[in-house]
Amino acid sequence: MSVRSEIIGCGSYLPERILTNDELAEDLDTSDEWIYSRTGIKQRHIVADGELTSDLAFKAASNAVEHADVDAANIDLVILATATPDKTFPATATKVQSMLGLKNGAAFDVQAVCSGFIYGLSIADNFIKTGQAKTAIVIGAETFTKLVDWEDRSTCVLFGDGAGAVVLRAFEDTQAADPSDKHSNKHRGILSTHLHSDGNHVELLQANGGPASTGTVGKVEMEGREVFRHAVQNLSSIVDEALEANNLNYEDVDWLVPHQANKRIIDSTAKKLKMPTDRVVVTVDKHANTSAASIPLALDVAVKDGRIQRGDLVLMEAMGSGFTWGAALVGW
Ligand SMILES: CC(C)(COP(=O)(O)OP(=O)(O)OC[C@H]1O[C@@H](n2cnc3c(N)ncnc32)[C@H](O)[C@@H]1OP(=O)(O)O)[C@@H](O)C(=O)NCCC(=O)NCCS
Repeated sequence: MSVRSEIIGCGSYLPERILTNDELAEDLDTSDEWIYSRTGIKQRHIVADGELTSDLAFKAASNAVEHADVDAANIDLVILATATPDKTFPATATKVQSMLGLKNGAAFDVQAVCSGFIYGLSIADNFIKTGQAKTAIVIGAETFTKLVDWEDRSTCVLFGDGAGAVVLRAFEDTQAADPSDKHSNKHRGILSTHLHSDGNHVELLQANGGPASTGTVGKVEMEGREVFRHAVQNLSSIVDEALEANNLNYEDVDWLVPHQANKRIIDSTAKKLKMPTDRVVVTVDKHANTSAASIPLALDVAVKDGRIQRGDLVLMEAMGSGFTWGAALVGW
């Protein structure tokens, strides 16, 4: 018998204001055609003045708690994945913990940029497996548009704001695995998580400021082509690693929920997995790249519209600045 974790609910929140490619092209030397053909992005959501990462995180988390139908007081771990915290310190997670009315356990931020949600999920899964937490909430929330240089057309068109969250709960895995039964514990809960990083490529994608260097938050800088090349390589190897670790094949995966950075990167990973496009959740057209929020946002869309069903096997993968990359195989 072992203790494992399962996702029992999800939620998301998007700011009201939508900025379309056409609107962007009014003030910037770009076009809907250029943006859509290179990235698959049509629009992005943008926070209102005074709307903070904690506000988005709180709304997504409340939504997830309601969907999970748990007593919030039982949540003993709050992990917030974000590269756009409200303040340099304290962790925005502690503010969200307070907004949720929670007093138990620990709350902290995780900084792995676009891979942040997978990192947070992995940490929460390990907390639960070791008995240090029983009910966790993992949130990915970003106000990434605060970090973009609106005069740099090669980066500002790519990002958006938003938040997504999942609630994880411990369960005792007492059932003998029955590979023929999708609803057995073989496919129940988080099967495995896989994390990697390689700090040798920091300059390819970064915010060029920080409290210890410039004293400012900085703006996004990116070598787009190089990032694209590394993303395709790293995502391809991480999906292999996740499947091999579980003795599973490409055909066993019901849904691919990738980080939503670029439709062409998503397509290349799906092709590698031989996943038909109708089993790949794509939200990049509507949300753009919301960094750590993108996977839980996409997950919530596909769960709430009924595509992802109980018993389905879901593969999530992400790659981000650092570089960081990771994957999680989850039985829904
Ligand atoms: C950013 C990205 C879409 C750029 O596409 P690309 O084909 O590599 O384009 P390049 O950067 O080589 O630029 C090609 C031309 O388009 C121009 N261009 C860049 N952004 C533009 C825009 N928004 N509108 C119009 N033209 C643009 C460039 O100035 C360049 O013009 P030039 O040839 O006259 O110098 C692409 O590299 C990409 O998707 N990279 C991965 C980014 C990503 O997902 N990052 C996050 C990972 S978490």
